[in-house]
Amino acid sequence: MRDPKFVLAPMDGMTRASFRLICFQYGADGATTEMIQSLALGRAKRRLSDTFRETMVRLPGEGDLAAQLIGSVPAMMGESARRLTAMNRFDAIDINMGCPARKVVGSGNGSALLKDPDRAVAVMRAVREATDLPVRLKLRLGWDGEHITAPALVAEAGRLGFDSVTLHGRTRMQMYKGAVDVDAMRAICTASAIPVYANGGVTEAADALTFLEATGAAGVSIGRAALKRPWIFDDIRRLRAGQPLYERDASERVAVLERLATLACGLRPEIVAICEMRKFSSWLLPGLTGAGEVLRSLNAVTTLNGYRAALDRFLDGLARSHDTDYHPELAGTVGLDTV
Ligand SMILES: Cc1cc2nc3c(=O)[nH]c(=O)nc-3n(C[C@H](O)[C@H](O)[C@H](O)COP(=O)(O)O)c2cc1C
Repeated sequence: MRDPKFVLAPMDGMTRASFRLICFQYGADGATTEMIQSLALGRAKRRLSDTFRETMVRLPGEGDLAAQLIGSVPAMMGESARRLTAMNRFDAIDINMGCPARKVVGSGNGSALLKDPDRAVAVMRAVREATDLPVRLKLRLGWDGEHITAPALVAEAGRLGFDSVTLHGRTRMQMYKGAVDVDAMRAICTASAIPVYANGGVTEAADALTFLEATGAAGVSIGRAALKRPWIFDDIRRLRAGQPLYERDASERVAVLERLATLACGLRPEIVAICEMRKFSSWLLPGLTGAGEVLRSLNAVTTLNGYRAALDRFLDGLARSHDTDYHPELAGTVGLDTV
């Protein structure tokens, strides 16, 4: 049996090159871009929009990377797969059959394909025939409890020579809530001729290992937990090696934010990148002493220098308070006990 892999799940607006690189540096075995609209990509004649270019950058240091396509017109999906292949920068093409958003399914895309298996297979075939890169599929169990189509689609992916499948163990109607159906996932993983990655609901490293065991999957795909703890991949490696986990301290969290901000500013306009950093700041800093104050400062800055300066002030403040903590014997002699 191959070594299990632990990969970063695709997330719209999140799994751009800068964040993916951070996850790779923490040991992720693979990543997928956010979804790329095949209609826009297939029709783009002259130049791609800035968003597309940012999404499709690949930074040095990124590991196995799939570009994810979303769409339901087989010819357009095939044309987009050809374009992505010609860019010569991706290791695989992934097809999105999981997105549950109303706007997306309303136009027949994403998880809407789960209730139209003929079209789903036509899309899979078109992409498979358009590229010699490995092709992957990301899907949910089905549209709802009465329409569980994943077993047939995963089997078809195997027949078409797909590289692997990522299975989110919920239906479209469950959106992102409720328990994943581990038994249904296990049945699909066991029957599949190609590797299946289990996805959905991992919140910490130990969950990933339990999930792997319970589903019999070839690996685990982790989404939201990595946004708050990109070091989850390192935690998983530690657990598997029998090493202790440790709480990531302020300096490590700040270092991640600084690296992310610097990378993001290299890929898009500074003001946009720094404003987008607010969500990552609000995910990585809470729980630390002084987090509320530094978050207020970080939310007010619009430049990389301002962002870095606010983080530096935060660390300096912590170091000063630790200095006090580390020298309790001074208390009293210099009046600190009364502060
Ligand atoms: C903000 C956000 C954006 C997402 N965007 C995509 C996407 O572009 N393509 C995709 O296949 N899944 C997308 N997903 C679904 C995730 O890949 C994953 O299947 C889901 O979050 C469940 O895994 P988790 O519990 O580990 O987060 C998105 C999820 C979130 C929360």
